[in-house]
Amino acid sequence: MEEAQRLCFSTAFAGGRDGGIGGGSLPDAEERDMLSRKIVAAHDRLAKGTGDGSDMRGWLNFPASYIDSAEFRRILAAAETIKKADVLLVIGIGGSYLGARAVVEALTSRYYNDIRNGTPAIYFTGCNISESDYAALDAIIEGKDFCINVISKSGTTLEPALAFRHFRAKLEAKYQDRPKEADKRIFVTTDAKKGALLAQAKERGWKRFIVPANMGGRYSVLSAVGLLPIACAGVDVGALLRGAAAAQKAYAQPGAVPEDNACYWYAALRYHYYTRMRKAVELFAVYEPNMTLFGEWLKQLFGESDGKEFRGLFPASATFTTDLHSLGQYVQQGERLLFETVITFEQPANALGVTKQEHNGDELNYLAGKTLHEINETAFRATALAHQKGGCPSLHISLPGLDAESLGWLIYFFEKACAISGYMLGVNPFDQPGVEDYKSFMFALLGKPGEEHDKTRADLRAAYGMNI
Ligand code: PA5
Repeated sequence: MEEAQRLCFSTAFAGGRDGGIGGGSLPDAEERDMLSRKIVAAHDRLAKGTGDGSDMRGWLNFPASYIDSAEFRRILAAAETIKKADVLLVIGIGGSYLGARAVVEALTSRYYNDIRNGTPAIYFTGCNISESDYAALDAIIEGKDFCINVISKSGTTLEPALAFRHFRAKLEAKYQDRPKEADKRIFVTTDAKKGALLAQAKERGWKRFIVPANMGGRYSVLSAVGLLPIACAGVDVGALLRGAAAAQKAYAQPGAVPEDNACYWYAALRYHYYTRMRKAVELFAVYEPNMTLFGEWLKQLFGESDGKEFRGLFPASATFTTDLHSLGQYVQQGERLLFETVITFEQPANALGVTKQEHNGDELNYLAGKTLHEINETAFRATALAHQKGGCPSLHISLPGLDAESLGWLIYFFEKACAISGYMLGVNPFDQPGVEDYKSFMFALLGKPGEEHDKTRADLRAAYGMNI
């Protein structure tokens, strides 16, 4: 396949004219010119490093170079060691969690733990503060040989730090007579130069992998953050990187007309729907349940990147056709605040068909001979028609198949579109200052020592008369 065409982005669907039967939802000539200028300006900011957050563009040219790196080879070697265990606990939150889980489920199955073949069961933890979650995992690892991959760039995030303390203690209790055995089972992914996790890893000699300083969590799935746990599930992480590297090349330049660069054109249409069409929500829709967690990753990528300075599209996600029987009603007839971005795959994963039955009691013989993939595809086209008719424009991203190279391409497509979108919108797509507010109040209420927390407590006492 010609790499430049691996991903197909369109504003129409087979059989429909551009813009669909909703009509009028695409930019006119004048707006296209404006969008074109904005695309070029955003591209320049990103490429030349003149935009806000320019020191966080490490992901931009990462995939093509990382595949030949010594660390990538260390990841593959570490994965082979971890694969000998029964269970891998992956501890992390936000960008240190979602990408890995999304890729593992997409490229294996959402039932991975039940159908894996010679690879460890993988459980993601440290992404909540739930006693019942910890208790369930305690029961799961009881008597099992387990490894831990703890992932935290800062090394200080409360949720993963708590989980690491808990499960590390389990590991150390298991090997209380042989502490080195516990140490051999701990793999740390963190900053190369700073943080509490780094200090502990150095002291104990745990195997270490790097979260690049110039890469925010939500842009880090193609670094050691995502690649180590993904490799442990038996996924071809080299293919994932190759797909991303091909996308890196394909989307490097804006091109002569906006549509030349599908990634940039998608970012421009997001901007158009937000600013001109007054759409407040982008609904990411997939028709493959194994992609549900990918929707969660997209929500984090766009939510943390766009949503600041009281601006930005609210990212939502849905798995169709499942959610057509819940959210579908709102999409069709609720407030007209949505547009949808639908991701589909051309090739079926299997070829399961509908059989003909002599007694057509369920009246499904009219579908006999069709594959489930064909029926799902038709459901997508019918839904896009219905949604566009109802005033919910559909953008469509299609890939040849749900394989590692295509997914690597898709990840890069969205990362770059997200950065371009942020610059078009006039926000810094690489920081997340709003996330700090809940942390600062939580630490103050929890009694964390330190001057800054004392000050927050004093502020809360003054503002709300709180007894803290
Ligand atoms: O995208 C981000 O930067 C965040 O979601 C972080 O990944 C998340 O807060 C976890 O941070 P850390 O890796 O420092 O524990």
